Amino acid sequence: MTDLFSDISSAEHDEVLRLRKELEEANRRYYVDNMPTLSDRDFDSKMQRLQELERLHPEWADAASPTHHVGSDLTQGSKFAQVAHRYPMLSLGNTYSQAEIEDWLRRLPEGVEIVAELKYDGLSISLWYEHGRLIHALTRGDGTRGDDVLRNIQTIPSIPRQLHGTGFPDRFELRGEVLLPWQNFERLNRERAEEEEPLFANPRNAASGTLKLLDPQEVARRGLTCYLYYMLGEDLPADTHMQRLEQAKQWGFPVSDAIRLCRSVDEVMDFIRYWDTERKQLPVATDGIVLKVNSLAQQQQLGYTAKSPRWAIAYKFPAEKQLTLLRDITCQVGRTGVVTPVANLEPVQLSGTIVQRATLHNEDFIRSLAIRPGDRVWVEKGGEIIPKITGKEASSAATEAQPYTFPTLCPECGTALVRVEGEAAWRCPNEDGCPPQIVGKMIHFVSRKAMNIDGLGEETIALLFRLGLLHNVADIYSLRREDIATLEGFGDKSADNILAGIERSKQVPWARVLFALGIRMVGETTAKKIARRFRAAEDLQWATREQLTEVEDVGGQIADNVLAWFADLRNLEILLRLREAGVQLADNAPAEEQQSAVLQGKTIVVSGVFAHHSRDEYKAMIEAHGGKNTGSVSAKTSFILAGENMGPEKRKKAETLGVQIMTEDEFLTLIQSNESTQTL
Ligand code: IVH
Repeated sequence: MTDLFSDISSAEHDEVLRLRKELEEANRRYYVDNMPTLSDRDFDSKMQRLQELERLHPEWADAASPTHHVGSDLTQGSKFAQVAHRYPMLSLGNTYSQAEIEDWLRRLPEGVEIVAELKYDGLSISLWYEHGRLIHALTRGDGTRGDDVLRNIQTIPSIPRQLHGTGFPDRFELRGEVLLPWQNFERLNRERAEEEEPLFANPRNAASGTLKLLDPQEVARRGLTCYLYYMLGEDLPADTHMQRLEQAKQWGFPVSDAIRLCRSVDEVMDFIRYWDTERKQLPVATDGIVLKVNSLAQQQQLGYTAKSPRWAIAYKFPAEKQLTLLRDITCQVGRTGVVTPVANLEPVQLSGTIVQRATLHNEDFIRSLAIRPGDRVWVEKGGEIIPKITGKEASSAATEAQPYTFPTLCPECGTALVRVEGEAAWRCPNEDGCPPQIVGKMIHFVSRKAMNIDGLGEETIALLFRLGLLHNVADIYSLRREDIATLEGFGDKSADNILAGIERSKQVPWARVLFALGIRMVGETTAKKIARRFRAAEDLQWATREQLTEVEDVGGQIADNVLAWFADLRNLEILLRLREAGVQLADNAPAEEQQSAVLQGKTIVVSGVFAHHSRDEYKAMIEAHGGKNTGSVSAKTSFILAGENMGPEKRKKAETLGVQIMTEDEFLTLIQSNESTQTL
């Protein structure tokens, strides 16, 4: 029983860590790169799951968890001045369920007035006015500081740079949404397609990319627009949100007319129903509605959580879907050899763009819905880049077509596909001979978080591969200037840039090189942990399965993948060539010093929230003093280092097993004393 519980708990702990990592990454891709990787819906449901797990396990609390902060759009480097927000810029609690909206409304004080507004799908902006003059325009940033994009905001004709007349306070702030209208978005993407530049997935990303440009003339040309929906300041002449919006409108600000003051649940629901269809006629993207308590006094009483106001909530419209004809199914091979079936569709207009291709996920999905070419299928796009098929028309029966049979051979290289037990995906096992896998591996190798080789992009790698100049990652270090300079669209200058990037990559530390090698399931963090234990490729090459699984986060599957990678002679040859080229295959920094052996032989669980150091710092201290960290309490646990909010389950288990619980201060005294802990 005990083990079962600790297994569940450690699986849940893994899930928490995984979700935090995934959500951080998704935030970065969304806010910084403007290339979303998750649909809003998937993001929200992962966030909800993380919140639930963190509620169940307060001992795993981490102030850095994405549940505690909003995603950050702050620009690295000094592109824009960063300015602290006077009032934190929060996000909104949201739901996809009308029932939850009704619940929220019913929990509010009797007779409360609600302002219903559209939820514009752009990016938030905070405009500061002093003596009627616009002095700052800040993005949300990390919620406490934002990038000042004033010069770009000044290109939006509807935003006054200087107010005229009187009646406005000396100092106030307006918040709203910056948007790129559908029409301008489509024009921009058409231009980008002609220039072979990557397309923006949706108007939100296009608006965000545009607002961060350094050339206001180009911003003006693209044609941003804005709606303002929130006024803040010390001495504002109004008691309600609605009055403030009306006031803003009178002062000349762009405030939407699609706003309604509601006094009953029915009125709110009418507003939702009406705009769910009517919004498609609007010139800009919307993704839901926002409900706000009208009275400012009541808003104040309701207050805020760490991330959002309790006096407002967002309802997100369900993803748009369309029925269309499935012309045929083709299969695509990805970097890891996974074969994904793709639906080729009769083009259909969906969420503002034309969709012709959509994912069919895997063979099981196609079979469970009995999908075959000739069917009329439902295609959905919820803000993500890749649309998906979600079902087929009930009456759709393309009886004349044969049931679809999944290929047994790789469509790229003809190798027999394999299906790994327990996985839905078919995979091409020809890792080193299948073109998209070879190219995919090289693209991963040069990517930002791996070797970070600037200038060597996806298309260049694919081209060099087609020309026979690149076969594997080691070949990158044998590229000559003339190989690149003679390519179409390249010259001496771009060749030199690429070669300089390749040269710089020789300084990339061993942990990142290990990640760059692309061993299956060895992600960035796992690579770091493995590299900390095996400080050179040679050490790792001779590691046993047992030694590997001793590394935190490394389970049997990952260990097997590492062993298999090093058992392949072709990989060893690549390593040899990388070493000859001067790539860092060992960690040259001095080993983390073993500070004492005071915890030698001790197995310790770190749990809860600490005042003096972070949990990871405590774990590092334990190792530096000879101890071993473990995630779950068992009879083998020597003691628990407990902070605030240690989980009740863990405490109970510790009491049952008679495991000692040590406070943070006791622990620090213990390691500082450097005495033996025989008494424990
Ligand atoms: S009110 C403290 N009203 O939605 C409340 N936000 O998911 C501040 N948004 O960050 C926000 N339309 O960028 C509000 N009518 C509206 C909105 C709106 C779009 C955005 C805003 C916010 C995000 C929250």
